[in-house]
Amino acid sequence: MSLCGRYARNVTERAPVSRKLSAIAESATLKVDAKAKSLQAAGRPVISYAAGEPDFATPPFVVDAAAAALSDPKNFRYTPAAGLPVLREAIAAKTLRDSGLEVDISRIIVTNGGKQAVYQAFQAVVNPGDEVLLPAPYWTTYPEAIKLADGVPVEVFAGSAQEYKVTVEQLEAARTEKTTVLVFVSPSNPTGAVYTPEETEAIGRWALEHGIWVITDEIYQNLTYDGVRAVSIVEAVPELAEQTILVNGVAKTYAMTGWRVGWMVGPADAIKVAGNLQSHLSSNVNNIAQIAAAAALNGPQDAAEEFRQAFDRRRKLIVGELSKIAGFTVPTPQGAFYVYPDVTGVLGRTWRGRTPTTSLELADLILEEVEVAVVPGEAFGPSGFLRLSYALGDEALLEGVRRLQELFSA
Ligand SMILES: Cc1ncc(COP(=O)(O)O)c(C=O)c1O
Repeated sequence: MSLCGRYARNVTERAPVSRKLSAIAESATLKVDAKAKSLQAAGRPVISYAAGEPDFATPPFVVDAAAAALSDPKNFRYTPAAGLPVLREAIAAKTLRDSGLEVDISRIIVTNGGKQAVYQAFQAVVNPGDEVLLPAPYWTTYPEAIKLADGVPVEVFAGSAQEYKVTVEQLEAARTEKTTVLVFVSPSNPTGAVYTPEETEAIGRWALEHGIWVITDEIYQNLTYDGVRAVSIVEAVPELAEQTILVNGVAKTYAMTGWRVGWMVGPADAIKVAGNLQSHLSSNVNNIAQIAAAAALNGPQDAAEEFRQAFDRRRKLIVGELSKIAGFTVPTPQGAFYVYPDVTGVLGRTWRGRTPTTSLELADLILEEVEVAVVPGEAFGPSGFLRLSYALGDEALLEGVRRLQELFSA
């Protein structure tokens, strides 16, 4: 038989790719952003509110720390999979400072961005068939990470009328004997909602009472406005620390999305199994990036504060302008850098000859008619919403909302 014939037969008989991975959707936010970038590259004047990343440069003192680390040959070697002690010490100090939790560095694993920490957190505590309560709207990665851990995401929806925050009553109504984990994110991506200390405590006490793990994603905890503080669920309910995994990272606070440094903090047994996973999956995070992250956490916080103030200014600007559009309901976000208008008031009406009935169709219409990229609510749960990131320059930000106002003024 010819080689060619044998090859052809092998292809026909080849087993399919993984069913589990085939069921995983591509990140919708990255997809919209990639489409916007490719249109921009083709010369189209697209304004993109799609990306969840600060438009600022990483602070120079952080870059300098990385440059210095490049001259030290020990950084060219493998280092402990759980992370460099210098960074884990910095994370322990930050966790105490911002989440009110005192932890030994043995309970910290440094990961390739908060995203790997999210993945590993679910892998560490979910068993096949476990139900994971997922307040919706949710960040697009959670349901996929839960499914990859053989868990079952159970959405608990909170709409604009309740400022996108779930209540204990809703969580209790969704709880079954299979419920083992709750995802708690404050400030939230995509809504920017921040739970009050009282709401956080009530949810924490409920989780404690029912022995439910909490995976709390605190990556936006330093980006809050109007004097609001996002109180960590382990600060609100200290006894919860033994059943909580905290996820965090430097990406959003320090304009370090590309450096890929995040971490997870948790009880010894969860950290042990997650650490074993990471030792096979990726080993240590790039040493240079870890040293830069340690500098960001330990150094002066003025640059981070300047970024926060710029986001706050843009937040007010975009909320004010979007609120002028009839049919948009725009709760004021108190954290992160997203605004999440409820757009059900414009669906089912005709705009430039088209009648969108879902936010997915609406986002397509907006991109095609006025070259503005927004992420539809379907990426985060139910239809009827749009997510706009205001982490872009003031001029582009204003031009984009002006185009939206014009489109919906007809
Ligand atoms: C809620 C939330 N958690 C985690 C991450 C992951 O961030 P990174 O992997 O860039 O550190 C993001 C990024 O968009 C996020 O929005």
